[in-house]
Amino acid sequence: MSEKILVGQVAIVTGGGGGLGRAFALALAESGAKVAVADLNLAGASTTVAGIAARGGEALALEVDVADAGSVEQMALAVAERWGRIDMLINNAAIYGSIVRKPFFEITLEEWDTLMAVNLKGPWLCARAVFPFMRESGGRIVNITSATFYSGSPLWAHYVAAKGGIIGLTRALAREAGDYGIRVNAIAPGFTLTEASLRLIEDAATYGVNRGAIKRAQQTDDLIGALLFFASPASDFVTGQTLVVDGGRQFN
Ligand SMILES: NC(=O)c1ccc[n+]([C@@H]2O[C@H](COP(=O)([O-])OP(=O)(O)OC[C@H]3O[C@@H](n4cnc5c(N)ncnc54)[C@H](O)[C@@H]3O)[C@@H](O)[C@H]2O)c1
Repeated sequence: MSEKILVGQVAIVTGGGGGLGRAFALALAESGAKVAVADLNLAGASTTVAGIAARGGEALALEVDVADAGSVEQMALAVAERWGRIDMLINNAAIYGSIVRKPFFEITLEEWDTLMAVNLKGPWLCARAVFPFMRESGGRIVNITSATFYSGSPLWAHYVAAKGGIIGLTRALAREAGDYGIRVNAIAPGFTLTEASLRLIEDAATYGVNRGAIKRAQQTDDLIGALLFFASPASDFVTGQTLVVDGGRQFN
């Protein structure tokens, strides 16, 4: 998909230093957007930016901790300073591949609080930080949740609860932000092959495949259509929605 539907637009992709976030950043740039790649992992973000530059796109790497209000505000200011506007926020950063899956009664207070700070508070902080730059001219926010919310996937209750929270946040923000021409939607990927997911599951290449209506492993590219739909005018009258992209492993 290389149609230049986003020329002149500025996007922030959090967690763009690898995995899905990198694929999202590359796809937005390929569609003509200027992309700020924000990640705790600056080296990863810089690699993404180099990949965009190699394809003739424009991007900026930023070291950001989405759980830190000051860091997130600096991110928004840096992007606005560089390109004069912010049109899109892709809330993708999360603690994911490093999670040690365990029963809910063994998750420590610290594990719960740290994960919530990044995976649930982070997207709210990012939305709050970009709002001043979207309130006059409108914008789009795309939150990355997870199909684990629908399946109630066991052994990472904090992760699943945070992803459910993202769906609630999507709806609440959409309701409030509509008056400002800001649309807020979410994508719920199924188990997708990334470095992080390969760390989590041993038989990753076959995991869940038989449960799908479409029986093959999910790749990062499978999510790009949904991202560009929510990022583009094609979805101008769609807000507050969550689209499950998982090859029909579950129906919502
Ligand atoms: N891969 C899957 O199967 C899958 C399925 C459903 C949902 N998801 C979601 O998709 C997103 C990306 O997943 P992925 O597989 O690419 O994993 P990933 O670990 O490669 O991506 C997460 C990114 O977020 C960054 N990050 C972590 N904490 C941060 C912080 N405090 N501030 C800024 N950046 C931070 C990491 O450095 C990393 O680059 C996550 O939200 C994940 O929950 C993934």
